[in-house]
Amino acid sequence: MEKIKAVYIHIPFCNSICSYCDFCKVVYNNDWIKPYFEILNKEIDNAYMGEEITTLYIGGGTPSCLSINELKELFKITDKFKKSQDIEFTMECNINDLEEDKLKLFYEAGVNRLSIGIESFNPEKLQFMRRTSNFKDAKKKIEMARKIGFKNINLDLMYAIPHETTKILKNDLKKIIKLKPEHISTYSLMIEKNTLVGLNKIKPIEEERDAKMYDLICHKLKKAGYIHYEISNFAKKGYESKHNLTYWNNLEYYGFGCGASGFVEAIRYDNTKSLTEYLKGNIVSSKALMSKVDNMENELILGFRKTDGISLEEFFNKYEENMQNIFPIKPLIKNKDLIYKNGRVYINPKKLYVMNEILLKLI
Ligand SMILES: C[S@@+](CC[C@H](N)C(=O)[O-])C[C@H]1O[C@@H](n2cnc3c(N)ncnc32)[C@H](O)[C@@H]1O
Ligand code: SF4
Repeated sequence: MEKIKAVYIHIPFCNSICSYCDFCKVVYNNDWIKPYFEILNKEIDNAYMGEEITTLYIGGGTPSCLSINELKELFKITDKFKKSQDIEFTMECNINDLEEDKLKLFYEAGVNRLSIGIESFNPEKLQFMRRTSNFKDAKKKIEMARKIGFKNINLDLMYAIPHETTKILKNDLKKIIKLKPEHISTYSLMIEKNTLVGLNKIKPIEEERDAKMYDLICHKLKKAGYIHYEISNFAKKGYESKHNLTYWNNLEYYGFGCGASGFVEAIRYDNTKSLTEYLKGNIVSSKALMSKVDNMENELILGFRKTDGISLEEFFNKYEENMQNIFPIKPLIKNKDLIYKNGRVYINPKKLYVMNEILLKLI
């Protein structure tokens, strides 16, 4: 395996909880931050082996909800990592937290990519999500970030909200594009059991309508100059998320913090999602050693999320096996589920939406 080059740190605090979110998060409480950082520090000291890292991603929850002093403490922790000159250092933010002092602090700490949760500007969608945002305010904050020096901004957009019409989605897309982010991540609403939406037994929209919305997103973003490089991610040329490509290329990475996952020395692990357990120092909740077969299967499950799929040569170099000898690639190329071109195999763009069904035929 290649040396680890990516680090994820989870900050499980948010100012308020959205109706649909099943991520590892709790409402921010200042009392928990110091003990949280103490455990996080120990966790990193015990596991990090001093590799030079090329991507660092602080996600959540909402890392941007921390106070200035807490953020300074967090950056003292991230200073432990040996960073490459061209590191991609992402901070996940909620648009409502972005004030000039925080943005300046991020920039001075070396953050060079902001991933901002906006989700929508439509009042009904926002009300359903239990979120707030406002186009004028978002524009002002993004301009402020640009002035400070940020040249790589991702915006998150959610869709397939009950009662959402094509017109509403078109409007959201238009506004997001107007903000000129380098990267856009799109999320179709998933109804999770233990969320307000799940508990209220809200039904997902019909699959056909979801698919139409997905097509609309792909079409509009392509027209606006974005490359559709992963099933739900779009980027201007050269701005594909290096960190997320670590996951999709099935490479190893460190995951630190409550609720984080990692892949280190062939072991995939999940940290506890319970803040109480984490603060007691009971960090890892499950571990699994990946066999060669597991790794090859994951290579397909993750790699086919990328629109340019998997290189047969790279697969061979990694596993000393021909992909077509292990998985039934050929019949799927024949029936046009998969496409083979220039040494790469990828999912037929017209069938990306049914990717899971194709994977089931393969694995
Ligand atoms: C950690 S959040 C982004 C940053 C920040 N916490 C915020 O929400 O503004 C990551 C993204 O996951 C998405 N997400 C969370 N739960 C989801 C769900 N049940 N269905 C679809 N997308 C979801 C949201 O779009 C959210 O922007
Ligand atoms: S979507 Fe973001 S802000 Fe909302 S609860 Fe989840 S992590 Fe927190």
